[in-house]
Parts: sequence; structure tokens; C-alpha cells
Amino acid sequence: MSAEPVQHEHGFYSSEINMTKTFQLPDLKATERLAAALAPICKSGDVIALFGNLGAGKTTFSRYFVHSLGVEEEVPSPTFTLVQTYPLSGHDAEAIWHFDMYRINHPAEAYELDIEDAFDTGISLIEWPEKLGSLLPDSHLRIELIIGDTEGSRTARLEITPHWADRMAPVLDSLSDLIQ
Ligand SMILES: Nc1ncnc2c1ncn2[C@@H]1O[C@H](COP(=O)(O)OP(=O)(O)O)[C@@H](O)[C@H]1O
Ligand SMILES: [Mg+2]
Repeated sequence: MSAEPVQHEHGFYSSEINMTKTFQLPDLKATERLAAALAPICKSGDVIALFGNLGAGKTTFSRYFVHSLGVEEEVPSPTFTLVQTYPLSGHDAEAIWHFDMYRINHPAEAYELDIEDAFDTGISLIEWPEKLGSLLPDSHLRIELIIGDTEGSRTARLEITPHWADRMAPVLDSLSDLIQ
């Protein structure tokens, strides 16, 4: 990583702040740890964009994320419903909104799924976020899941922008053994 400062619309900051972190997830337990480490740093208005092919683990990650915040109900894939919501209590976000955008044909169809409410008052987990085009908020946390060479292994690549950098320290600390 270059030590050169990079120019940004809000001024200059060290390139160290805008970084990609790659996690090696050898098994489901590691995916659960990643989800459970990220969930407590999320707040109302946050958007996690889950990139990755079919079977990469986007729904599995989301399930662990939702359950780690104390939601006890089942977390099915939103493949057909396109969105599932999970109310939170004692949290500044009203709910977790779990979207699967695979079946939308045009970004504007996401308005019918109440994405504006989700982005205003909830934590949004979005599978197939590329379908949203420019409706995906700039402040999103990008997580790309990649199927590994050995059974059960995945790689997770996180794009840590300044919007996320400050609160990411405890996540990086607790998962340091998984960081490549
Ligand atoms: N380390 C892992 N992380 C996530 N999923 C894994 C892992 N190892 C195996 N799997 C399995 O891979 C499948 C991922 O499916 P799913 O989460 O539905 O993917 P997607 O939503 O990306 O299409 C599940 O059957 C899950 O149990
Ligand atoms: Mg899925």
C-alpha cells in the first residue's frame, strides 16, 4: 500500500484510511465471526452491500448478522420475497432490512421495496447490490465474498472507506487471525 496521501473531495487523508482488508474464512464459523463482529458497529442508516456469486455465502452471512443482534426468528433467503425485515429493540436502528435484488429488472423497482425507509431508519443488508446502480448509497460497506479452493472456505474482501474506518478497529482486532 502506498504511503502517498490520496486526494479526496473532502480534502486529503492518508491512503491507509481507505483500504481493502481481505479475510480468509476457512469455515462457517469464521463467516459467523465476521458477521458477529460487524453487527455491533452498525447503526441506523448503514448499508452493507454483499457482492459475490450464487452460493458465495451472502445469505449465510446475513443470517449470522441478524441472529447476532438478538433476533431469534428464522432468516430465510429473500430470493422470492426480495426483502425481509427484522425489527430491533433497544437499538438506534428500527430494523434490519435484508434485500435480495437479483430479480429486479431496473434500479427504480427497489423503491417499491421501501429502500428509502430502509436507508433512513434501518440497517440494510443487500444481496446483488449491483442491481441498484446509482441508488446504492455512496457510504455503503462493500463486502465481496469469494468461494475458496477448499470445501467450506471463503474469502471476504472489505472495502473500508472513511465512513467506516473509525469504527472498524475492534473488528480488525478481534479478527486479526483471519486477516490475510
Ligand atoms: N465459510 C462459509 N461461509 C458461508 N457459506 C458457506 C461457508 N462454507 C460453506 N458455506 C455454504 O455455502 C452456501 C452459501 O449459500 P448462500 O449463503 O445461500 O449463498 P448466496 O446467498 O451468496 O447465494 C450455504 O449452503 C453455506 O452453508
Ligand atoms: Mg442469497
